[in-house]
Amino acid sequence: MKVNSIIVAAFAGITSASPTLLQERQGGSAASGDGPYGPISVSTDSALANHAIYIPTANTGTAKLPVLVWGEGGCTSDGSSNARFLNAVASYGYLVVASGAPGGRGTTTAAMMTASIDFAVKVAGTGRYVNIDATKVMAAGFSCGGVEAMAMSWDPRVKTIGIFSSGLLTNYTTASTFTKPIIYIIGGSNDVAYQNAERDFKALPAGTPAWKGNLPLGHGGDLNQANGGKFGRAGIAWMEFLFRGNQTAKNYFLADGYKVDGWDVQTHALDQLKPIV
Ligand SMILES: *[C@@H]1O[C@H](CO)[C@@H](O)[C@H](O)[C@H]1NC(C)=O
Ligand SMILES: *[C@@H]1O[C@H](CO)[C@@H](O)[C@H](O)[C@H]1NC(C)=O
Repeated sequence: MKVNSIIVAAFAGITSASPTLLQERQGGSAASGDGPYGPISVSTDSALANHAIYIPTANTGTAKLPVLVWGEGGCTSDGSSNARFLNAVASYGYLVVASGAPGGRGTTTAAMMTASIDFAVKVAGTGRYVNIDATKVMAAGFSCGGVEAMAMSWDPRVKTIGIFSSGLLTNYTTASTFTKPIIYIIGGSNDVAYQNAERDFKALPAGTPAWKGNLPLGHGGDLNQANGGKFGRAGIAWMEFLFRGNQTAKNYFLADGYKVDGWDVQTHALDQLKPIV
């Protein structure tokens, strides 16, 4: 119990400082994204209060855009706190719906992530969402947001889970029920989430395709560096392989492509990791 309380406190993270400082420290708000449809700026939609939207404004042609629903570190309700990474994701041709309005305050809940999925499913094919493919949804998050993403494991609309510097807190036997492909992007033994992530990874069912990479950068790694850093690169490659069958992205995981970024890797059932069509 004591350990869990400490981790909860650590995951709760930074809550003071001015919004501007916080935003700069946590990932900036300027337009960015190194993908073919960048740069991207965060936006909102009046049909979905308390959320942030990242979507290409460039012409994406006939490309179908899968969906990422995202929860922030500390479960802070600032949907732009990981903007550099989320801009980068959208610039590769994705709709990203993050819990919390840009610059928002307060605390997110897993229900807000479910609302993001409901929204994506509802708007897909309409207006600026005309090319959205809501049959391809990844739920992911950083730290406390990763715990929210794990709570989406049982939502049939979610096809894969992304855990950035996170692990289960009190619900710690639950990983043995995870069956969807899951990626763990962790900051090494100095990451406060390290022990929980290692434990959860070991608890996964033998047949669940999973990739776990550690980089010794601590909690959150370089996620808030330009385009989400190496943490972001691994996350985007995961989506590009699973949702698009992208060969370069496949090689990142299955042909040691990750080695150029220095990840310390463990995998489960990667032979079962296949694009979701
Ligand atoms: C805890 O795990 C159970 C299944 O073992 C699941 O039904 C429940 O939603 C989980 N709670 C959270 C908050 O993830
Ligand atoms: C394939 O994915 C990689 C990221 O892993 C990306 O850099 C590249 O642009 C993608 N290629 C295509 C054709 O989409």
